[in-house]
Amino acid sequence: MRYYPVVEPSIGALEKKYVDDCLRTGWVGSWGKYIGKFEDAFARLVGVRHAATTSNGTVSLHLILLALGIGAGDEVIVPDFTYVASANAVRYVGATPVFVDCDLDSFNIDPEKIEEKITTRTKAVMVTHIFGNPCRMDRIMPIARRYGIPVIEDAAQAHGTLFQGRAAGSFGRAASFSFFGSKTMTTGEGGMVVTNAEPLSEKIRLLKNQGQSPRRRYYHDVLGYNYRMTNIQAAIGLAQLERLHSILAAKWRIHGWYQKYLAPLADKGLICFQKETPDGKATWWVNAIVLRNASVERLAKKLARSGIDTRPFFVPMHEIPHLKRHGDFPNSRTLSAGGIILPSGVLLNEKDVMRISEKVANILRRMTA
Ligand SMILES: Cc1ncc(COP(=O)(O)O)c(C=O)c1O
Repeated sequence: MRYYPVVEPSIGALEKKYVDDCLRTGWVGSWGKYIGKFEDAFARLVGVRHAATTSNGTVSLHLILLALGIGAGDEVIVPDFTYVASANAVRYVGATPVFVDCDLDSFNIDPEKIEEKITTRTKAVMVTHIFGNPCRMDRIMPIARRYGIPVIEDAAQAHGTLFQGRAAGSFGRAASFSFFGSKTMTTGEGGMVVTNAEPLSEKIRLLKNQGQSPRRRYYHDVLGYNYRMTNIQAAIGLAQLERLHSILAAKWRIHGWYQKYLAPLADKGLICFQKETPDGKATWWVNAIVLRNASVERLAKKLARSGIDTRPFFVPMHEIPHLKRHGDFPNSRTLSAGGIILPSGVLLNEKDVMRISEKVANILRRMTA
C-alpha cells in the first residue's frame, strides 16, 4: 500500500553536492562559507537587510524577544490559533502572551480584535502567517504604529509567501523562519531571524553566539546562548533556497488539485477551505480543510487505513495547560475542532491528490449520510 505522508522534504542533487563539500573540507561546525551565503541569499528572498541563521524557529522567536528587551511584567499579543512555540517564546523571557482570536477564512489573527487587547504593558504584537497564508499586514501595521509597538512576524510556515507583492517577514521589526524537516524548505532543524534594523541584528548575533564580544574572544558581553546553525545545515538551506521556485511551484499545483477535486464537497457545504488572504499570495505549506458536522478523528482513522496520513489542527493556545487563559475565542475553537491537514508533500502528483480527495469524499459522504 502506498503511504502518503502529510509533508515530506524535497532533497535533490544540489543539497548532496553542498553537504559533500562541507564533509570533504571538514567545515561541519557553525563556521564556514555556507552560513554567510545562506544568510545573504535568504535576506534577498525576503527583501530585508539582515538575516541571521539560528538552530530553529523557536529560538529565533526567543532571540527577537530578548533583543527587543521584552521581559517580566510585559505583555505580547499572540494569535490564539498558532503553534505553541509562538506563545512559549514569550514565556521564556518571562512576559505574558495575550491571545487574540483568529479569522475563520484566512485562519490568521483577526486584525479587528487586536486593539482591544492592547494595554500599557503591551510591548509587541506577534502574528503568524498560518500554513503559508499571509496576515493582513495592511491592517496590522497601522495599529502597531499607532501604539508605538513593534510587530514580530512568526513566518515559520511562510517561506516565499507574499502580501501586496512583499515577502512575509519583511513587514515587522523582525521575523522568524523555521527550517524544520516538514517545512516548505528545510535544513533538518534550523531557523532564521530577519530584520532591517542593524542594531537588532547585531544584538541577535551576539545573543546567539554565547554573548561573545565581537572584539575579544572568550569575553562575553552579555548572558548569551548557543543558538547557532551548522555549516552543513546552511549548505542544505542554500540548496533548498536555490530550488525554492520549483518547490513552491509544486505546492501551488497540489493546492490547485485539491481545490479542483474537493470542490464538490465544498459546494455541498461539507468542508471549507482555508481562503487565501485578499492581496496575498499564499504558499500552501499544507492543505487544510475544516469539516462541517463530521469528526476529524474518525476521518483521520479511516484515511490512515488507506495509508493517508493527516494532522489535526493546533489546539488553541488558551487551552494549553501552561498557557491557560479565560476568554472568548470562538473561531480558533471552531478551527481546532473541525480542522484537518491533508497530505501536502511536494512529491504528490495529480493522480495521488485525486485518489486522496476521492477517499475523503467517500468517507465524508458516508459519515454525513
Ligand atoms: C508557527 C510556528 N512557529 C514556530 C515554530 C517553531 O519552529 P521550530 O520547530 O523550527 O523550532 C513552528 C514550527 O513548527 C511553527 O509552525
